[in-house]
Amino acid sequence: MASVLTLAACGGGGGQTAQTGQPPAATGGGKQQVEVFSWWTGPGEADGLQAMRKIFEEQNPSYTFFDAAVAGGSGDKAKALLQSKLQANTPPDTFQGHAGAELQGYIKAGNLEDLTSLYDELKLKDVFPAQLVEQISVEGKIYSVPVNIHRSNVLWFNPAVLKEAGVAAAPKTIEEFLAALEKVKAKGKIPLSIGSEWTVTHLMESVLLGTLGTDAYNALFNPGADWNSAQVTAALENFAKIMTYAGDPQDDWQPAAKQVADGEAAFNVMGDWAYGYFHNPPQGGLGKASKTDFDWAPAPGTEGTYLWLSDSFTLPKGAKNREGAMAWLKVAASKEGQDAFNPKKGSIPARKDADQSLYTDYLADALKDWSGNKLAGSIQHGVAVNQPWLASINEAVGLYIGSKDVKALQQALADAATANAQ
Ligand code: GAL
Repeated sequence: MASVLTLAACGGGGGQTAQTGQPPAATGGGKQQVEVFSWWTGPGEADGLQAMRKIFEEQNPSYTFFDAAVAGGSGDKAKALLQSKLQANTPPDTFQGHAGAELQGYIKAGNLEDLTSLYDELKLKDVFPAQLVEQISVEGKIYSVPVNIHRSNVLWFNPAVLKEAGVAAAPKTIEEFLAALEKVKAKGKIPLSIGSEWTVTHLMESVLLGTLGTDAYNALFNPGADWNSAQVTAALENFAKIMTYAGDPQDDWQPAAKQVADGEAAFNVMGDWAYGYFHNPPQGGLGKASKTDFDWAPAPGTEGTYLWLSDSFTLPKGAKNREGAMAWLKVAASKEGQDAFNPKKGSIPARKDADQSLYTDYLADALKDWSGNKLAGSIQHGVAVNQPWLASINEAVGLYIGSKDVKALQQALADAATANAQ
């Protein structure tokens, strides 16, 4: 517990106290605070949250927003702290969780309140895609408010670095990708930038999808799926080859993405939150020029498939400020809230009736692909596997980074599936 709280204290950005992990007492002026827990503290990430916060504060003058965000991309530190808060029955008023298996875990553990009446009141079933509502429901009850759809399988690249290396276009297949990585290496640039350990699992999911194809990828998460198959071996061998072109691991996803935008590296496979970071004006983002400083394509072999995930906000049982949390959820559910949040976050809205004119450049491509592509669920970001399963996958990938042993990686992934697939 102590170490988890220390993580929060140094990573916070939200002002939690080192001793308790709790927000400071209510601020003056009789306002009640609403503790909103996420991991959107870093460059690019925080911009979207701040945009939604602004609307919340305008619409709810009697509440103050308490930003309980804990730094660390993909929630690698936040989720551990959240778990300890839930166990200690001191939940935040609302927290971010991923639609799919991750959220189902919180629901089954009895951590969340049923939000069906909010859905009825705001007629939300009409505005969210039915397949998304299914991912956040159990036995017909709905447990969270999705704010966005993110895409995991994006290949970001620096056009000038590709040109210099003689790579004419973004690689469409894994073979083309390997050939392009080799050409960049020959020019002395970093072929592929990577960040902390979770970004390697993130890369691996795109390589699994790009090698196996959508149906075989999706089938990996069914009970009894064969992770020891020759196809999975081939996918992991591709992953191993690609990893030989990786640069020095950076601290998190932002510095790895920045190597591409700065022309130090050619490629980075990262979710489309990287778009917010590249594009947003300096302070929050890098203020880089789209198509000149950075460009994008589906990760090799994955064109036509949206490897998706969705951030959603919840109402934990025992929230201190339940009414304040409901007020936050109403903003998160609203067209206005989603249209403020998503263009900054680098995601498309979960709502079907958003103002499409706000989604330009990369985001216009994303909207088009979301409506026409096949779907596959992200591993690293909570759709396809639950938290214990993801922890085992992360551990297997972490060991692989040291050992480079593909056979051991495959066996560990197969064992994780056997232990966790339901
Ligand atoms: C994901 C999350 C995104 C983004 C990313 C990087 O798990 O869904 O919204 O924050 O992590 O931190």
